[in-house]
Parts: sequence; structure tokens; C-alpha cells
Amino acid sequence: MLSHYKIITLSHQHTNLRDLAKFVLPELEQTIVHLLQSAKENFNIQELFYVSTCNRVMFLLYGEFNADENTVIPFYRHFLPQLTASDYTILKENVKIFQGTDAVSHLFNVASSVDSLVVGERQILSQLREAYEFTRTQGLCGDAMRLLMDQAVLTSKEVFSTTRIGEKPVSVASLAVLKLLRYALRPDARILLIGAGQTNGIVAKILHSNAFTNVHVFNRSLPKAQSIAKLFPNGKASLLSELNEFSQGFDALIACTSSPTPLIDLHVFTSLVQNEKNPKVIIDLAVPNNVTMEVAELKQVHYVEIETLRQVASENMAFREAEVIKATKVIDSNIEKFSRLFKQRKIEKAFSSLPDEIKAIKEKALSEVFKKDLAELDEPTKELIEKMLTYMEKKCVGVPMKAAREILL
Ligand SMILES: NC(=O)c1ccc[n+]([C@@H]2O[C@H](COP(=O)([O-])OP(=O)(O)OC[C@H]3O[C@@H](n4cnc5c(N)ncnc54)[C@H](OP(=O)(O)O)[C@@H]3O)[C@@H](O)[C@H]2O)c1
Repeated sequence: MLSHYKIITLSHQHTNLRDLAKFVLPELEQTIVHLLQSAKENFNIQELFYVSTCNRVMFLLYGEFNADENTVIPFYRHFLPQLTASDYTILKENVKIFQGTDAVSHLFNVASSVDSLVVGERQILSQLREAYEFTRTQGLCGDAMRLLMDQAVLTSKEVFSTTRIGEKPVSVASLAVLKLLRYALRPDARILLIGAGQTNGIVAKILHSNAFTNVHVFNRSLPKAQSIAKLFPNGKASLLSELNEFSQGFDALIACTSSPTPLIDLHVFTSLVQNEKNPKVIIDLAVPNNVTMEVAELKQVHYVEIETLRQVASENMAFREAEVIKATKVIDSNIEKFSRLFKQRKIEKAFSSLPDEIKAIKEKALSEVFKKDLAELDEPTKELIEKMLTYMEKKCVGVPMKAAREILL
């Protein structure tokens, strides 16, 4: 029954991300498997799938378990016995439970990134697929989940291919690299990354995927700089304190640290530029800025700062959000498609024993019910009757299946 599909979820839509972290299952895979397995037994669930991302924790289940605001507490207690009374208050106030068509709709919205914190980010589909593959191979999911997940993947692909929901970058890191590309820098351009935090880590990955090779990372602590520099064939790492002595020049510089005071002032810039006269692209992603206005205003410098990029990011986000209307239409038609597929699958399963049952009736007719009558017939007549019964057997199997399919159309 479609109503056996249920989703129990906490997400960024209703819960702040710090609270959300309390409801993530322990990281160890074997512990998760054990907990999910025992939850299936304890709560009368046939199939159980779990996924957590940085902005949602979701259980998708198939079974008779009556998921509601009362049962959700013991359900969570099973997984996270350490939760406190105040955590349960957060849970009760924020948890969302979907059932039947609503559960299908929620999953399709999640898979298509309509429900994401950053609408149109493609990563969610691979996170869902990975989590499903994990639960499937651990024997936690079966046919009902396979059918639903297959359709969720198809829906997501259709949304991304027929709408523009995933177009136009919305992160400052991608917009920063896009800016560099506009200045037509060569792949071996000398790029300095100042800072090796989360944001510059993402910038580095995007630089790498755009084939930039020559990146020197400066950071307050060396190990983070080294791990980013490793991405590039000509990657190098140094301590931020060595920036003043750097004498190899540069073409572009991306600064992104949490330093409360600027790091690139006129003195540092003059030393870095090494009397070179070519234009220098400087992208300052830090708040407060890492680059002084004196440097930003130099003729030789093409300066891009975070506020400009944030403005573009929010315009692009508005563009993506407008595409949600089109995405919703695609999702709705896939919900209908899934509902038909699900019924069809139910019928196939219900009829799966039909061929054997009809064959058994034929065998019984020949070997028991009409045994004596057949014994009085000559061989050619017996053969003919057997042939006719075999023909009937094969033809009869398809009749109820065909009728059932026609009802669904
Ligand atoms: N997260 C975002 O979405 C986002 C987007 C755009 C811009 N920003 C801005 O980018 C900056 C960094 O963000 P993030 O997310 O990458 O932060 P993060 O992951 O916390 O990294 C902070 C970086 O700043 C360095 N740092 C911290 N204090 C410093 C100091 N006093 N002097 C020199 N370096 C220092 C850290 O060096 P260690 O590794 O040695 O600690 C690290 O490289 C912030 O100004 C933030 O406002 C953030």
C-alpha cells in the first residue's frame, strides 16, 4: 500500500542547524546498521532507509509502523538514547512526518533539490543514492524502496534537464573562480590563495576542476595549506608569516581568512608584485576584508570583493527559485507516474504465482480428475487434449494481468 511509505524528518526548513546535529545517528557504519536493523524489528517496519546531510536528517520507511507525534519519541529514543527532555521538545516542535503520496512528494522534492537550503544544488542526489546503496547492500531495503528510489532518481534527472534550477552559480566560491575565468588567465597562471579555511578549500577544488595548476597556498597553520596545495601539480604551501618574503610574483590572489585586520596592505602588495607591471586580479572573500582599500584602488589591480559576489549570488538564487514552479510540475507528474507503477508492481507480485497455479490445475486434470476418461482414449486424441490444455494454460496466464493493467490505465 502506498500509505506504507512514511518519512520522519528534521530539516533546515524548520530546525536550526545546531539543533539538527543532535539528531544525526552515530558515524560508525556498523552501529547504524545494527540500530536500523533492530528498529525494523521493534517498530514493525519492512524496509528502512536513513540519510543525513548537513541540512537534514531523514528516515524513509515502508511498513505498518504508525508514525505520528507520539510514536516518534520512542522511535528516536531507540536510535539516540542520550537525548534529553529539551531535545525531545525540539524534536516534537520541528519533526515532520509524511505518509503515502505526501511522503513520495517530499522525497521527490528533496531529490530534485527543491527542498534544499541552496535550491538547485546537485549534491543531494548523490547523497541520497549513496545512502540508499548502503542501506540496500546491508539488507535494510527491498523492492518497495527500490521502486521509489528509482523513480526519485528519474524525477531529479528530469527536473535538472528540463528546468534551469541548477543553473547560475550561487556560492561565492564558484563566483570567485568565474571572475578569474573572465580575466582569461592561463591554466598555469600564478595564483596565490591566502587562507586555507572552508571557503578557500572549496575555491581550490573549483580552481582544480578548471585546470589551474600553479597555486601557492599561504595559511596561518601549515597542514591545512599543504592539504589544499596537494590538489595541484604545481601546488605549494607556506606559512602566512612568510608572505612578505615571497618573491615569485603572481597573476591572481584570492584572500579568505578570518583575520580581524587586513593582511594585504600596500607594503605587502609591493613586495608581492616584484615590480611586475601586468594587471593583478585580487579577489577578497573575507569579512572584514583582507585587502586594504589603498591596494584595491591601484590602477594595476582588478579588485573584486565579497559584497559584489554576494549580490550576484542572491540574484542567481532568485533565478533558481523562480524555476521551482516548473520543477513542481515535473515532480507532480512523476508522483502520478509512481502511483501507477506502484499499483502495477503490486499486481505483478500478486499474480506472480499464477503460472504455477494454472499449471498445477492442468496437471491435476490430467493425472486425477479426468484420468479414467483419458485412459479410454487413443494416443492421438490424448496428445491433442494435452496440447489444447497446454495452449490454454499459456494463454490464461496473461488474461487477468492484461485486465488488471487496463484498469490502471
Ligand atoms: N563560509 C562562508 O560561506 C563564507 C563565504 C564567503 C566568505 N566568508 C568569509 O571568509 C572568511 C573565512 O571563512 P571560512 O568559512 O573559510 O572560515 P574557516 O573555515 O573558519 O577558516 C578560517 C581561515 O582564516 C584563518 N584565520 C583565522 N584567524 C586568522 C587570523 N587572525 N590571522 C590570519 N588567518 C586567520 C584560518 O587559519 P587557520 O587554518 O590557521 O586557523 C583559516 O585559514 C571569513 O572572513 C568569512 O566571513 C565565508
